Amino acid sequence: MLFVQANGARIPAIGLGTWELSGRPAARVVEQALRLGYRHIDTAQIYNNEREVGDGLRASGVRRDDIFLTTKVWTSHFTPYDLERSVKESLVRLRLPSVDLLLLHWPNPHVPLAETLGALSHAKRMGLTRHIGVSNFTVALIEQAVELSPEPLVCNQVEYHPYLDQTKVRAACDQHGLALVAYSPIARGRIKSDQTLAAIGRAHRKSPAQICLRWLVQQNVAAIPRTSRVERLSENIDIFDFELTDAEMAEIAALASPKGRLTDFGFAPKWD
Ligand SMILES: NC(=O)c1ccc[n+]([C@@H]2O[C@H](COP(=O)([O-])OP(=O)(O)OC[C@H]3O[C@@H](n4cnc5c(N)ncnc54)[C@H](OP(=O)(O)O)[C@@H]3O)[C@@H](O)[C@H]2O)c1
Repeated sequence: MLFVQANGARIPAIGLGTWELSGRPAARVVEQALRLGYRHIDTAQIYNNEREVGDGLRASGVRRDDIFLTTKVWTSHFTPYDLERSVKESLVRLRLPSVDLLLLHWPNPHVPLAETLGALSHAKRMGLTRHIGVSNFTVALIEQAVELSPEPLVCNQVEYHPYLDQTKVRAACDQHGLALVAYSPIARGRIKSDQTLAAIGRAHRKSPAQICLRWLVQQNVAAIPRTSRVERLSENIDIFDFELTDAEMAEIAALASPKGRLTDFGFAPKWD
């Protein structure tokens, strides 16, 4: 497994996304992923599955220290008091003393960013998390956050896959030493029928999903694909035994289009 290094954090390049996984099946997928070699799990307060993620972690038998676990604070908990309380509640649900990475899930313009980052940093200083970061932050917001955060930020988790150009956000992350963690890294399964990825895949004996994930990891980006199927758990992590050429990397980047974004809510910031 490769790692993406950022401001003191070592983030395993492939993690398991858990959005929309719930109940016993969620615990089972987390357990199976860890048994298959995953060492990075991504959850969030809003996914309503922190309890099951914690159960899966314990059932796997993998040492806690070997796992990189991320959770995210929902935007309704961004005042300092709410943030601390909600993180402690997350830890109760996870039945863990701390997580490895705690993210602000989306920007929230209704609470001053300095206050929220102060509370996030305080959570780190209290030992509730090893690292802190943000998610869905634009270039302007990254710059503000880096300026305002008392503790270093280690990542910005954003949508990134071949259909969405994230050159500007990547450059801002690089400039400030933040890792980019790609969510919806296989475009929620849309890559499955992509002819370009399939053709490149034939040359390497890999699937479109594997080509897509390799393309991300080869840019020093971490990716957190989600699946509920065991065979796909293995497929999505089996990307470390081949390399894409520069021409193939460019061909995949050329798939980006202005309509490529999949996640856009009314409360989203004005994207770059
Ligand atoms: N920070 C944020 O705001 C944010 C937003 C969205 C997502 N996320 C995180 O990012 C994670 C991943 O993003 P995502 O869940 O939106 O989408 P994704 O990982 O890009 O795609 C998941 C979909 O792809 C299918 N799939 C998985 N492996 C496949 C393969 N090898 N071949 C073909 N299809 C495959 C899955 O179906 P099966 O289950 O049937 O395999 C599922 O329908 C989330 O689970 C969550 O942890 C964060």
